[in-house]
Amino acid sequence: MAIFTQQDQFHLQMDHSSYLFHVMANGELGQLYYGPLIHNQAQYPELTHREIHGAMPAWKLDTPDFQPEALKQEYASFGKGDFRDPAYQITASDGSRISELQYQSYRIENGKQRLANLPSTFDDSQDDAQTLVVTLKDAVTQVTVELNYTIFPHQDVLVRSATFSNQGEQTVTLNRALSGQLDLPDADYDFLQFSGSWARERHAIRTPLRRGIQSIGSLRSASSHQEDPGFILARPQTNDDQGSAYGFNLVYSGNFLDQIEVDQFDTTRVLLGINPTEFGWQLTAGAQFQTPEAILSYSDAGLNQLSQQMGACYQHHLVNPQYAQKPRPILINNWEGTYFDFNETKLIAMARQAKDLGIELFVLDDGWFGKRNDDTTSLGDWDVNPQKLPQGMAHLAQQIHDLGMQFGLWYEPEMISLASQLYRDHPDWVIKTPQRQMTPGRNQFVLDMTNPDVVDFLYAKMSAMIDDAHLDYIKWDMNRNITEAYSPTLSADQQLEFSHRYILGVYQLYARLTHDFPQVLFESCASGGGRFDLGMMYYAPQAWTSDDTDAIERLRIQFGTSYAYPQAMMGAHVSAVPNDQTGRITPIETRAAVAYFGDLGYELDVTRCSAAEKAQIKRQVAFYKHHRELFQQGTFYRLDNPFTGDRNVGSWLVVSADKRHAIAARYQILNQPNPRYSQLKLRGLLPSQRYVVSGRQQPLYGDELMHAGVFIPSLLQTTMGVEESADFSAQVLVLDAVDD
Ligand code: GLA
Repeated sequence: MAIFTQQDQFHLQMDHSSYLFHVMANGELGQLYYGPLIHNQAQYPELTHREIHGAMPAWKLDTPDFQPEALKQEYASFGKGDFRDPAYQITASDGSRISELQYQSYRIENGKQRLANLPSTFDDSQDDAQTLVVTLKDAVTQVTVELNYTIFPHQDVLVRSATFSNQGEQTVTLNRALSGQLDLPDADYDFLQFSGSWARERHAIRTPLRRGIQSIGSLRSASSHQEDPGFILARPQTNDDQGSAYGFNLVYSGNFLDQIEVDQFDTTRVLLGINPTEFGWQLTAGAQFQTPEAILSYSDAGLNQLSQQMGACYQHHLVNPQYAQKPRPILINNWEGTYFDFNETKLIAMARQAKDLGIELFVLDDGWFGKRNDDTTSLGDWDVNPQKLPQGMAHLAQQIHDLGMQFGLWYEPEMISLASQLYRDHPDWVIKTPQRQMTPGRNQFVLDMTNPDVVDFLYAKMSAMIDDAHLDYIKWDMNRNITEAYSPTLSADQQLEFSHRYILGVYQLYARLTHDFPQVLFESCASGGGRFDLGMMYYAPQAWTSDDTDAIERLRIQFGTSYAYPQAMMGAHVSAVPNDQTGRITPIETRAAVAYFGDLGYELDVTRCSAAEKAQIKRQVAFYKHHRELFQQGTFYRLDNPFTGDRNVGSWLVVSADKRHAIAARYQILNQPNPRYSQLKLRGLLPSQRYVVSGRQQPLYGDELMHAGVFIPSLLQTTMGVEESADFSAQVLVLDAVDD
């Protein structure tokens, strides 16, 4: 592990991968190589050859072979002969848009500092990362750019960002300022994206790259249900178990762009960062602009390895260290159990029953404040609803705490209802464009988080409640996207800064609350997984993965999510049937068997469960507690992909760090008559270790379990004891090493 620099060449070596770039003849930076680890050499002549192409501009008359369009660039500009989309663009005070970022200097630091106003990766111990900062300067505008590279060598993760500083005297405009760029020498890749919608987030879609630009992104001022900022470029033959792939993600929660451009030479340019549409930044003399961070990772050992190494990096170097490895509580949330219809008696009855079942945290969801009995009122009035909770929140919280449970509350801080005291007091705090109508979403509007008074107000309300009710947990929801984006806090020429400044305001509130109340566990939410991203995870170590709690839908959602996020980030609840989102009836064991592979919770009225269901829940809770570390922190392997083949089976596995314990689950959506034989082949075990497998008589060796597999009986067999339906089945296998 090291960062090598010589003769204007930078070689970032991680445990299994190398990233190489250099200063080109024109003083700008060129990308050389990113892939499996290679030796460090003083020069790489095989990577720097140039040939003259016809019909393309060259840098100078006497360097006809220096044709920017044919070169792999490190942080490309536009307008000097590279006609691909650029990584940044600066408009100077005279309206000109050419930049020449010339190499100036570099420095190397141990560790990784956190960014000041943005969520970021970090290495607080300063012994697990190295950072290279390369300074570039444009002589005409006097803008400097620091390109920041941090390697987390043991996870083969590279983090990039750019810091713009205006050292000139004139204001310039940043038209785009992306976080990272990667020019790859060919285009023989599949693009794996994780796309969806409300209630069906992050479905895995895999398509070969094609000539031209392909992109995903968001213009919703949130990372969105529709596209996830994380994506993968994989060789066509790569699968979960083998082959090479590059993983990408962004530590950002706002408008983003992930773009891939395949050019005339079949080279591939990856760009990722803040979406340049709806973005512009006035960089006044002396000012700085810091981009969010881009995450890059390479593996030649398949997509499971790629997900595991990126996930491990987040758990060690992104998530709040206080919570990263800490067991997450099993919660009960009243939302699907009561919706808005509750009072103190009902809540206490639910909490008592939940406590009896072993559940640890009671979460009171929407409807506890203002006059809120449906979703048309009261957002912004963060005082307890006296009709429902006449004795106040502290009283309710005290009773829950007295039961020996933790207590948490739902907030949707960024929102406002027109029917609210807050709107009557501060109509100017709502986001709107003068003289234009305000477009409602879920009957509500959005507060202007660019306004520091709004952030202060929310901080005061939430911190007072945390103190008063001794909250242990907050579910921070965000249920609509921004329209009519505009703020009176910004000048006319700053209005394109709005979306980014909005997110900075959200981050600021999160930063203040998490700093001042480290004992509060935050779970982020946005109508389920509408802002499930690494920016949020920095503050809130887990997120409500989806409003869809149907086990079969969740199987796909959690499977898709697992490519880019570890399971400790995924809130996963067992709810009642027929399911509220799909109407589907699945066995409670299947619902639990899916929810185990995340941060388990229950979201139903447990007081209405039958005695048999309560007994099942009690067993499930005890089972999860026993294996909690494995479920939340174990190494996760995708086995059968529910997005491919006949889409009828999905399976996955978690393995302990010492590989002596593992739990696999196989889900079958519809039962099939007279089916083929199925063997479930496991991964990540010790080949020469024997394991006891639940439900199987004879201990089996790891190699047999991985290569020959476990026999999966056909569910229609009456001996299986299935009485109701054999559809929507789950089989959970627990493996424990046994020594002779
Ligand atoms: C959103 C959340 C749900 C619930 C409701 C409450 O939809 O995703 O979990 O909190 O809001 O209104």
